[in-house]
Amino acid sequence: MNAIKLTLFAMTATVSLSACGSESPEPTEQIVIREPGEAATPVEGAAADADGADAADLVAAGKSAFAACVACHSVTPDGASSIGPNLYGVVGRAAGSLAGFDYSDAMAGSGLTWNSGELDEFLTNPSAKVPGTRMVAGAVNDADDRAAIIAYLATLSE
Ligand code: HEC
Repeated sequence: MNAIKLTLFAMTATVSLSACGSESPEPTEQIVIREPGEAATPVEGAAADADGADAADLVAAGKSAFAACVACHSVTPDGASSIGPNLYGVVGRAAGSLAGFDYSDAMAGSGLTWNSGELDEFLTNPSAKVPGTRMVAGAVNDADDRAAIIAYLATLSE
């Protein structure tokens, strides 16, 4: 009798143990949380958790997340603008001021200077920050991704 009870208990324990810890993979997610003790993976896509990752990891994560922007933005010094303006040196630059790029009147007249806070708001919702902007794609929902992208953009200057 006791043995049966024990077996039942053991089965219940096994079932509840296996019920947790199985997270379904998200194929579109770019950020990878590295658990303590887990082998270090290449920093592309490494997460910047609030109290941990150093600046290099943050910049690497931002470079990775910037994949969402490369279709429209180059980032090399004097790189050609395409659909969007070249973003080399954009942090500290007046909005809508890159010579040779045909900005919307909204962007050219926004009066903004791109610092971290303004960039964070713009990337959260470009049309809310600059109503009438021609940047109709590229909003970044995740605050950590935005912070990483902005940290990466800040490295793109002399
Ligand atoms: C579909 C194309 C497209 C994508 C994707 C896109 N952008 Fe843009 N971006 C633009 C265009 C076009 C403008 C110019 C907007 C205007 O003139 O109103 C712009 C403007 C900007 C500006 C203002 C630059 C300046 O010189 O004032 C920043 C900053 C910016 N984008 C950042 C980003 C980031 C970061 C991403 C990725 C998360 C991104 N963009 C994704 C098209 C895009």
